[in-house]
Amino acid sequence: LDLHARDIPPTSAEKLAVDAVLGPPQNGWEGGTRSPSDGRIARGGLRARMARRTLLLPALHALQDGTGGISVAGLDYVCRRLSVAPAEAYGVASAYAQFELEVTDDTPHGPEIGTSEVAINGPTVTVHLCDDIACRAARHGDPFETAVAQTSPLVRWKRSPCLGQCDAGSAALVHQPSSGRLCFGISPFTVAEADALARGGLDDLIGPRTARPVRKAGPLLRSSVSPGQKTFPLLRQAIERGPNWVIEEIRAANLSGRGGAAYPTAMKWEAVRANAMKPHYFICNADESEPGTFKDRTLIENNPFGLIESVAIAGFTTGSEHAYIYIRGEYPEAEGLLRATIDDCYRKGIVGPSLLGSGPPFDIEIRRGAGAYIAGEETALFNSIEGFRPEPRNKPPFPVQSGLFRKPTAVNNVETLFAVLEVIRSGGEAFARTGTAEAPGTRLFCVSGNVTRAGIYELEQGFKLSELIAMAGGVPEGRTIQAVLLGGAAGSFVGRDDLDIVLSKEGLRGRDATLGSGVVMVFDDLVDLKSIVARIAAFFRDESCGQCVPCRVGTVRQEELVARVISGKADPVREAQILDDLATVMRDSSICGLGQTAPSAVSSAFRLGLLS
Ligand SMILES: Cc1cc2nc3c(=O)[nH]c(=O)nc-3n(C[C@H](O)[C@H](O)[C@H](O)COP(=O)(O)O)c2cc1C
Ligand code: SF4
Ligand code: FES
Repeated sequence: LDLHARDIPPTSAEKLAVDAVLGPPQNGWEGGTRSPSDGRIARGGLRARMARRTLLLPALHALQDGTGGISVAGLDYVCRRLSVAPAEAYGVASAYAQFELEVTDDTPHGPEIGTSEVAINGPTVTVHLCDDIACRAARHGDPFETAVAQTSPLVRWKRSPCLGQCDAGSAALVHQPSSGRLCFGISPFTVAEADALARGGLDDLIGPRTARPVRKAGPLLRSSVSPGQKTFPLLRQAIERGPNWVIEEIRAANLSGRGGAAYPTAMKWEAVRANAMKPHYFICNADESEPGTFKDRTLIENNPFGLIESVAIAGFTTGSEHAYIYIRGEYPEAEGLLRATIDDCYRKGIVGPSLLGSGPPFDIEIRRGAGAYIAGEETALFNSIEGFRPEPRNKPPFPVQSGLFRKPTAVNNVETLFAVLEVIRSGGEAFARTGTAEAPGTRLFCVSGNVTRAGIYELEQGFKLSELIAMAGGVPEGRTIQAVLLGGAAGSFVGRDDLDIVLSKEGLRGRDATLGSGVVMVFDDLVDLKSIVARIAAFFRDESCGQCVPCRVGTVRQEELVARVISGKADPVREAQILDDLATVMRDSSICGLGQTAPSAVSSAFRLGLLS
């Protein structure tokens, strides 16, 4: 691959798209200060342009949205504008699955499986079709195979990992190049719709989607947008009582993070607040890419004002004047709602030069991911925002010491932030009395797979798994449960004899299971669990950033091992021993949680005998 700048001018559409993000180029001296003595020397231009590197990802999005792909000329233009080497920019762009990349001008990108030849900048509709585990389970097969039979020069089909619409059982994300962003999700995506798209019937599919109901709402989901909420009473209360009061309430509530690691929120906020290094940053992690998870999307679509209020409280409490909401690229509707809400808040003076007109300055910015599971890991997320490849950093230093732009940073999951609102509303001690002693409050469970009523269930922690499945109407058509996946691809399978498990921190201790991001995926006896386990192994191989050996090689070895066992050519007992060794190495020596948890579901499948 020959990656150097090539002086091919961008097309007018490419230039327009990039300039809309970076502003029109002023002149060749862009960013520098011209020497007053002779006007022929400029200083500081390179530094000024490099400081804009954080705009690399938005600029790549602009190319993809506007022209349907990233051509060599388009990438070169971005590189010139930001003074980034083409090899580096290519490295960044190729880390994200949603970008359609032209490799060089003479060697066009190979077509996807099932795709007719399509030009990178052609008038094509790209359909990302979920072939991940919940959609496979619900359809008892691979949805991709049916859809790609409908090939057409107008449609580019792409297999996609989970699109965060798992409750509907087969999900698609449709994207058409356009000067505005034309991207929307459809679920369930039917063969008839695939057919319509292939015939060029995009218009028939665009339209208001009926929101799927939340199956059981607790306090987090019930707080829908009301006129009262738009006045942000909880933020007002936080500002009046001060940051120390907020932290003490959260401490009294014993609130722990809902993003997977269950870290105490009060400790994180206090550490950032107390750090003398300035500025501080706050990041809301709405990347939600764990297969089977769709709770954060539901919370945002249900109540975007609630998220802005909690982000403002978090920013105020941690002493941050700038916050980012990093939302996954697969959530165009939620992103649109958030953008409109933020604009509204700026117009009304709720955020901006001063919080609610009397507090400190506070800005909120949205950053959109582009299809990389690893970008949800908090330090990879920093790199993504900064314009580098989304690769995790070594810890320590921890984000509270050195995070975004190497400054003290607090990162929280969307659900954690909604729980903070509940802590302030009800008071820390009252919150601590709900749920269980070690895990107070409610949790959002994303129930999917073979249940009658898939969807989001908000429950106090401490319910049994069997009770939750019963609430979801049980397994349809009187079939029996083979296994349940708890916590997503990074979680583990439990068998039908484990349905008495209590869904809480205490309940799962010693059961080799975790709540993780709240995934409860049910598989009936018709599901080919071997293909589900193989899909999980492929997912981790695909999503590993490849930075450290135990994970880069280990995920490949794990996938090969699963394939060997499924083919029946290998001795499962011996393969289980190899997997044990592999899992130990990956857990002990991978840099980040992806490599550490990648063997978890596969190991549990071996323990339960799901592969034999
Ligand atoms: C591979 C990987 C992916 C992750 N993805 C997410 C994610 O999509 N959303 C999220 O909130 N946390 C995710 N996390 C956890 C974050 O690193 C971080 O712990 C979390 O956002 C902190 O928020 P909390 O304290 O509110 O849970 C991920 C972690 C790993 C290792
Ligand atoms: S564990 Fe995997 S995803 Fe994490 S840094 Fe290492 S290679 Fe990358
Ligand atoms: S949308 Fe298909 S598995 Fe989540």
